[in-house]
Amino acid sequence: MIVAAGGSGGGPAFEGASSPPGGPHAEAEALRRAGTSARGATAYVTLEPCAHHGRTAPCVDALLAAGVTRVVVALVDPDPRVSGAGIDRLREEGVEVSVGTCEEEARDLLAPYLTHRLTGRPFVVLKLAASLDGRIAAPDGSSAWITGEEARADAHRLRAESDSVLVGAGTVRCDDPRLTVRDAPGRSPRRVVLGAIPPGARVEPATSMCGDLGAVLDELGAQDVVQLLVEGGARVAHDFHAAGLVDKYVLYLAPALFGGDDALSMFAGPGAATIRHLWRGRLVSVRALGADLRVELAPVRADASASERTAHRPPDDGTAASDARAKGRS
Ligand SMILES: NC(=O)c1ccc[n+]([C@@H]2O[C@H](COP(=O)([O-])OP(=O)(O)OC[C@H]3O[C@@H](n4cnc5c(N)ncnc54)[C@H](OP(=O)(O)O)[C@@H]3O)[C@@H](O)[C@H]2O)c1
Repeated sequence: MIVAAGGSGGGPAFEGASSPPGGPHAEAEALRRAGTSARGATAYVTLEPCAHHGRTAPCVDALLAAGVTRVVVALVDPDPRVSGAGIDRLREEGVEVSVGTCEEEARDLLAPYLTHRLTGRPFVVLKLAASLDGRIAAPDGSSAWITGEEARADAHRLRAESDSVLVGAGTVRCDDPRLTVRDAPGRSPRRVVLGAIPPGARVEPATSMCGDLGAVLDELGAQDVVQLLVEGGARVAHDFHAAGLVDKYVLYLAPALFGGDDALSMFAGPGAATIRHLWRGRLVSVRALGADLRVELAPVRADASASERTAHRPPDDGTAASDARAKGRS
């Protein structure tokens, strides 16, 4: 959130971003920085300020107490306990509120929060490092390292911004990964392995899960996992992709070729049977990272807008919603 003192132009601006779950929301942080400059100021927020008590006090109260007179909101919060209530309350108290500025940008920025709120499941990011001929490991199973240092550091940043990271038991047996954040600032996410974890694996402490992937996502969502990073291997990547469960693909492509059909493909399992069934995504970004390429893809979905879809109802104690909210807002 940004508080612009002296109305919408001219005065100094004070920014705030939400802290991890339980910490202050962006509004509280920006208002703290603004101090008395917030009186008569305009506040710019991505998500409608909350009007209910979660783990933190309502942001609407903080804005009113600080004397903010205008609030520019990008998105109405789909959380059924907020959904317009924050905006209504501000208007009732005489604050000028406009809604919809930079809505698309905010929707992209808050995609994990919105997905969690609307479906009860985490936003799923599938990340793989591959050669340009689409292979992720040599025939002997070795895959360290296909890409260079910059790409690996970027992947660690992705881990740090995720609540949980997941791999299949095959990857644990083959690579014995730690899945911690080491080459970037930030905390290590909770680790999840699909299948049994071999004794002494470096991924420990980790949670072993199994069964239907939709049910796995439901369970992780209920445990406040807002963003899940799936890091392979080929079988797990195939299963998430084939079930249409991936919200974002991050592919690190090295200028290298395995040069045969015996190296492991990105996806192990049956793919498109005919060209008519070729999966096509939307290129979100392509950029060079050292010697490698980072390609971000989004699935093309006929998604209804957040306001047209029924929001997932949060648990009665409301903690999942407030945690998710803290994670997703800025
Ligand atoms: N380049 C990269 O980005 C990258 C990333 C990761 C891995 N890799 C490479 O990929 C290879 C490993 O891939 P992989 O396809 O062999 O294995 P995998 O996808 O990591 O794991 C597959 C295994 O996970 C378990 N599993 C998966 N889904 C499950 C579910 N829903 N419920 C219960 N268990 C489930 C099963 O274990 P059980 O067999 O025990 O039943 C299954 O055989 C390695 O060579 C590794 O180096 C490369």
